[in-house]
Amino acid sequence: RIPEPCALVIFGVTGDLSRKKLIPAVYDLANRGLLPPGFVVLGFARRDWGDGDFESLAYEAAKKGARTPWREDVWARLAENIKFVAGSFDDDAAFDTLASSLDELRATHGIAGNAAFYFSIPPVAFPIVLKQLARTGMADNGKSGGWRRVVVEKPFGYDLETAKELNRLVDSVFTADDVFRIDHYLGKETVQNILALRFANSLFEPVWNSKYVDHVQITMAEDVGIGTRAGFYDGAGAARDVLQNHLLQLMAMFAMEEPTSFDPSEIRAEKLKVLKAITVPKDIQADTVRGQYLQGWVAGERAVGYLEEKNIPAESRTETYVAVKLAIQNRRWAGVPFYVRCGKRLPRRVTEIAIVFKKAPHLPFDPADVEMLGHNQLVVRVQPDEGMVLKFGSKVPGTTMEVRDIAMDFQYGEAFTESSPEAYERLVLDVLVGDRTLFPDAAEVEQSWQVIDPLEEAWAGTTPEPYRAGEWGPRAADELLAREGRSWRRA
Ligand code: BG6
Repeated sequence: RIPEPCALVIFGVTGDLSRKKLIPAVYDLANRGLLPPGFVVLGFARRDWGDGDFESLAYEAAKKGARTPWREDVWARLAENIKFVAGSFDDDAAFDTLASSLDELRATHGIAGNAAFYFSIPPVAFPIVLKQLARTGMADNGKSGGWRRVVVEKPFGYDLETAKELNRLVDSVFTADDVFRIDHYLGKETVQNILALRFANSLFEPVWNSKYVDHVQITMAEDVGIGTRAGFYDGAGAARDVLQNHLLQLMAMFAMEEPTSFDPSEIRAEKLKVLKAITVPKDIQADTVRGQYLQGWVAGERAVGYLEEKNIPAESRTETYVAVKLAIQNRRWAGVPFYVRCGKRLPRRVTEIAIVFKKAPHLPFDPADVEMLGHNQLVVRVQPDEGMVLKFGSKVPGTTMEVRDIAMDFQYGEAFTESSPEAYERLVLDVLVGDRTLFPDAAEVEQSWQVIDPLEEAWAGTTPEPYRAGEWGPRAADELLAREGRSWRRA
């Protein structure tokens, strides 16, 4: 899968995402030999940057973020084809320069008009950049003689209305098939493996339903706080930041029916059906928990509380933790609760999906012998320690028939010698080859907001429950499960 000669235009190239993810991803692709000879990065950013500043930023960023071994010769070759255009988004002249730079690539690099525009910029800047791309004809496939694609980073709106508006806007400039919405969780190896696990094996699918599954727990725990993103985060909160996208996408991949093929539209159609079938609890106050971290200790280090973070208003009611009990109203999942939680400043970083199976209908053992036997569980560990754990009961060696839980552990690192590409590396390559499989479409994004909007509406004006940084969220989250005779996995 090597793309045709093309240009990757990055708006906001000096920003955080570009430095931490995009530039290293491009280096890794080059290092793996996955970029075509005619490949150019055109970085677009503020006027006060010069070529020299940009070169050293790109070098440092690539070296720091690269997954593959560092090779100066690979970088040197790539660097020759990294160019920089300085300007502001309302600067017509800068966009004219960008357009003529793209045109020149035909002669200099044999790039027949193929370009992807990566929006690594805040959504408020989308309209003006789209307008500039339309004005200069840069968005026009026909005119360019090649393909023109746009890559949009989340947040995809703030609610259903704003998401629709954003989709309308992007669709007014690019055709739907040329719009790539990034949800970087779908670029993760372990998330894609959900499809392999389910649809390449005969073992799991028969038990993947309400007959055998007691409930499902989806956890995205982060030990970090909000870092330097106060401006964005305080206006969003955990539900908009990661539940609306990463976690609902995980849930959709986990719960969807088998697609008729791996054609992007087939996979998207199956995911969309799940998203449409998701319902929020009738009593949102009782069956959801919002939390906000107080100061505490995480991994031996002192962490300030959310309200003490830089640029967070002292009276903020934004949540940094959410736990919700969702349901999927279809034959396969009727009656199976999906407990989904995410939070910042939790004890450690872990994302996983745990399928907790029903207990055996009958246990022909002395009750004392099976006291230590829990529910069978299959845990898909998305990160870190990528892999899977199957928990089941086994006889304890000895002269009695005591049965205890044990774990069978599959780790990517041990099972494969191949290294996993970083999510962005995979997704950038997919954009360049035009593979839309791992990119949610407009309908999925809008449908996900249909899940979030009622929650946000019910939460408006309420104060999140406090939890200490370094704890597993508010006590109410434990009570949410305890009421139903269940408990969160200590992931
Ligand atoms: C981003 C969220 O989408 O995902 C961040 O905006 C979060 O708040 C990040 O920290 C987590 O990504 P990952 O890949 O480190 O799990």
